[in-house]
Amino acid sequence: MAMIAHKCPQYKVTVVDINPDKIAGWNSDDLPIYEPGLCEIVKKTRGKNLFFDTDIGKGIRESEIIFVSVNTPTKTFGAGAGMAADLQYWEKTARQILQCSISSKIIVEKSTLPVKTALAMERILSSSDNRIQFEVLSNPEFLAEGTAIRDLENPDRVLIGSSQTENGLKARDELVEIYENWIPKSKIITSNVWSSELSKLVANAFLAQRISSINSISDLCEKTDADVGEVARAIGMDSRIGNRFLNASVGFGGSCFKKDILNLVYLCRSYGIHEVADYWESVVLINEYQKKRFVLNMLKAMFNTLADKKICLMGFAFKADTGDTRETPALYIAKELLAENARLVISDPRALQNAEKDLIDMDGDIAYIEDPYEAVKGCHAIAILTEWSMYADLDYRTIFNSMEKPAFIFDGRNIVDHQRLYEIGFNVYPIGKPPLSRI
Ligand code: UDX
Repeated sequence: MAMIAHKCPQYKVTVVDINPDKIAGWNSDDLPIYEPGLCEIVKKTRGKNLFFDTDIGKGIRESEIIFVSVNTPTKTFGAGAGMAADLQYWEKTARQILQCSISSKIIVEKSTLPVKTALAMERILSSSDNRIQFEVLSNPEFLAEGTAIRDLENPDRVLIGSSQTENGLKARDELVEIYENWIPKSKIITSNVWSSELSKLVANAFLAQRISSINSISDLCEKTDADVGEVARAIGMDSRIGNRFLNASVGFGGSCFKKDILNLVYLCRSYGIHEVADYWESVVLINEYQKKRFVLNMLKAMFNTLADKKICLMGFAFKADTGDTRETPALYIAKELLAENARLVISDPRALQNAEKDLIDMDGDIAYIEDPYEAVKGCHAIAILTEWSMYADLDYRTIFNSMEKPAFIFDGRNIVDHQRLYEIGFNVYPIGKPPLSRI
């Protein structure tokens, strides 16, 4: 919404939320989320044509177009628990829109939703006889965290799904007009509503699948003399495969991939296509396996016991350039290491507050130290879990000297110079390459 306000000064954009703390945050200099470049855009537009408010009824009444971006977490109860999307916030929003509206509106689905949700929304919105017309569009968001501003300014494509009726196409054109303020027409594509809803789930499933594919090969590489980086480079130069999203890692995280794949799996199961469901579910299963494997490798390398050993987790965010820790592999790894009675020092330039919240219920010895040089002091091992670029450039000789010996480093992101670290004296365990170890 900040980007729309920034690119289209002729529109008035109001963001409403039921949580007053969040709205207060958006109205302050300390925004509720860290995203490079976002604060600058918010500051430029806030109070001019971008507003943050808790009065949802007023926001609904006064707007012609409503973007619904409520959360759709994985259901934790009832039918489809652990798989299906929890649509209660969506439905409540639909009912509130119906209740507060005094004029016709375009409703845009921004949240990622199972296929056919727009239909349910439309049914709720047309359940009253007040003659107000609602046209529901699907406009999934493909931005990635950490690069959100760049992705919004210059997206690969914008997708808008609408019903193919006269009113549906008219509503679609109004939304196209907004994006045309800064996006070339060739990149704005349209489809029917279901294709649009499904495309979002499928895009995330394909991206996650690439990571699970390369991660599965990383296991094989560790057992042989192959190097997953070299394999990724060789296959990535095939233009049919492409070279992006082939970095083997400790596993993918983030609020979208797992949730959306499970959603897709549930959708397939509900249509009785179990073979297809199993195929996509394996992407998630390989990701779980990769995280588990990482901890088992640590255990095995460190003489099958981690009890009382001090381990520094470098990075807790699910990826670099964000403070977000949702579904971060670091949380799983921290819990497994605590279960082995290891002592943890967690370091991250942006995510320490979230890390503390995530681990609040855990017993065990956990310290949170932002400065990596302080964090590693007296540690037996380092596990690099987030690809913050600063971790590639640290003075590892100083770090080695301040650690217990033998010193171990487990590079869950393959971002450090493994040979150089080995020469300094570390026992080095990369992902998808045979270890460089003296043990
Ligand atoms: C993702 C999609 O990219 C985006 O299009 C969608 O709108 C939301 O979900 P995001 O979750 O922000 O975006 O992050 P992304 O950059 O896709 O990374 C997801 C996870 O995969 C991270 O944990 C990242 O570290 C990991 N990853 C990514 C790898 O392990 N290897 C790679 O090669 C790329």
